[in-house]
Amino acid sequence: MICLSLTEKNLEENLLQYQKNRGLIDLAELRIDLLDASYNIDALKRFPSICDKPVILACRRKRDGGSFSGSERSRVQLMKKLLDSGFRYLDLEEDLTGSGLEQLAAARSIPVIRSFQDTEQIPADLFKRMMKIHEQGEIPKASVTPQSFADVFTLFRGREELKEIPQKIVVALGNYGVPARILYKRIGSLLTYCTSSGGTEKGSGHMIPEALKNLYHADTVTDETELYGIIGNPVMHSASPAIHNPGLSRLGLNAVYVPFQVDSVRHFFSFAEWADMRGFSVTIPHKKHVLPYLGNITREVKQIGSCNTVVRSGKLWKGINTDYYGFLHPIQEDIESGVVKKALVIGAGGAARAVVWALRNFGCSVTIVNRTFERAQQLAAETGSAAIEIDRYLQNLDRHPDLIVQTTSVGMEPYIDGDPLPGYQFNGEEIVYDLIYAPKMTRILNRAGQAGCRIVFGYEMLYAQGIQQFKSFTGRDYPQF
Ligand code: ATR
Repeated sequence: MICLSLTEKNLEENLLQYQKNRGLIDLAELRIDLLDASYNIDALKRFPSICDKPVILACRRKRDGGSFSGSERSRVQLMKKLLDSGFRYLDLEEDLTGSGLEQLAAARSIPVIRSFQDTEQIPADLFKRMMKIHEQGEIPKASVTPQSFADVFTLFRGREELKEIPQKIVVALGNYGVPARILYKRIGSLLTYCTSSGGTEKGSGHMIPEALKNLYHADTVTDETELYGIIGNPVMHSASPAIHNPGLSRLGLNAVYVPFQVDSVRHFFSFAEWADMRGFSVTIPHKKHVLPYLGNITREVKQIGSCNTVVRSGKLWKGINTDYYGFLHPIQEDIESGVVKKALVIGAGGAARAVVWALRNFGCSVTIVNRTFERAQQLAAETGSAAIEIDRYLQNLDRHPDLIVQTTSVGMEPYIDGDPLPGYQFNGEEIVYDLIYAPKMTRILNRAGQAGCRIVFGYEMLYAQGIQQFKSFTGRDYPQF
C-alpha cells in the first residue's frame, strides 16, 4: 500500500493534498502534530470521514522529529479524544506505555502501529525489537537510516528473517533508502510513505505519490518483477528512471528501473546477483569502478576504459558503453556521408574519451583542446589525435572544423554563463554538439545557433544512449509513445 503522509499546517490544505493524490494512494497518515494551533477540533474529528480511504492518526513528539509542543499528557488526551472519529490506525511510539490508548484502540478495533525511529543507522537490534512488538499484537514500524549500500542490502536480506511477522512497516530514510522505499514489498513492508512535496533532492528519501505510483508502479512490484536500475553517487537527479520505466510499462513488461545510491560497487554486485538483476546503468563515479567485476567487455569499453551499462550474459556480467553509441546517434549520417571529417573536441575527461574514440573509430581526424593541456596530450596520444593549447588553436585557425563537441562542465547549471570556447568565431558551417543537457540551450550552443550552425543538444545523446541501454536490457526496441 502507498501511504500519503499529510504534513500541511492546516486541515484545508491537507484535504486538498489528499484529494489531489487520492487516485495514487491506498491510505493517508494525518500528522496532527504539524497542524498549527488554530485548528478546530470538530473539523479534525470530521477529517477521516471526509476521506474515502483509511487514515492513520499520528501525533509525533519533538524528540521523534515531530512538532507537538504541549505536554505528554495533553498529547495522549488529544489522541484519546480522536479515537471515535473514524481513524483506522493509531500510530504510537515504542516507548509510550501505560497511557491507556492501547486499550481504547483495542476496544474500537483500531490496530496500533508501534513506531521507532533511528536517524543515524539501522539499529543492531532491529529485528528483535520488531519481533517484540509483533508479539504484543501490534504492527511494528521501524524508520531507519541506511548509511551505505551494504545497509540497504541488509534490509532486503532481512525480509527472510522477519517473515514470521506478517504485518510490519519498514521505512528506509535518506537517499540510500530510496530503493527500499520503492521496492517496499521486497523488504516485506506493508506500506511505503510519500509526501506531496517529495524531497528526494534534499536527501530525505521522500518521494511524491506520482513517482511511486505512476513512474515506479511501486504497489505492483512483486517477487516476479524484473529489476533494473542505475548506480551512482549521487544518483537521485538521474533522468534514466524517467526514460526506462515508461518504456517498460508501455511494453507491458513486469519490470521496474530503480535509482541506487551506491558507495561500494562490490556490495552492489553482490546485491545484483542476489536479486537476479538482468542489467543496470552506471553513472559517475562508478564507470571505471565496475570494470574489475565484468567478465566480458566490448571493444568500446576497453578503449574508453569506462562502462555505463552492465548486462547479464550467462553467468557473467557484460560491460557495454552506450554513451559511445548515444553520442554517435545524432551525427551518424553526417559522419558516414563524409560531411564530418574534421572535429574539435573540447575537454579531455571521461566523457571526452568516449567522444574521441567514437570519432576516431569512424575515421574522423580529431583535435583536442582542454584547460589542462597535459590531459589533452595524453588522450590525443592514446587515440591518434592532435592536442593543442586553446589560445594557439584560436590564433592559428586556418580551416574551421566540421564538428565541435563540447564535453566539459562549462555552461552547466548553475553556472550557465560559462563559455568553454570564448573568442571562437563560428563560420556557420560547423555542427556544434554540447553534451550538457541542463540547461538544454547552453551559451556556446546559443552562440553557434545565432551564427547559423546546426546545433545538437545534450539530451539527444542522453536519450539515444538510454534507448540503446533499454534494448541491451530487455532485448526489445524502445516503444513509440
Ligand atoms: P566527465 O567524465 O564529465 O568528462 P571529468 O573526467 O571530470 O568529467 O572531466 C571534466 C572535463 O571538464 C575536463 O576536461 C576538465 O578540464 P581539466 O582536465 O582541466 O580538469 C573540464 N573542466 C571542468 N571544469 C572546467 C572549467 N571550469 N574550465 C575549463 N574546463 C573545465
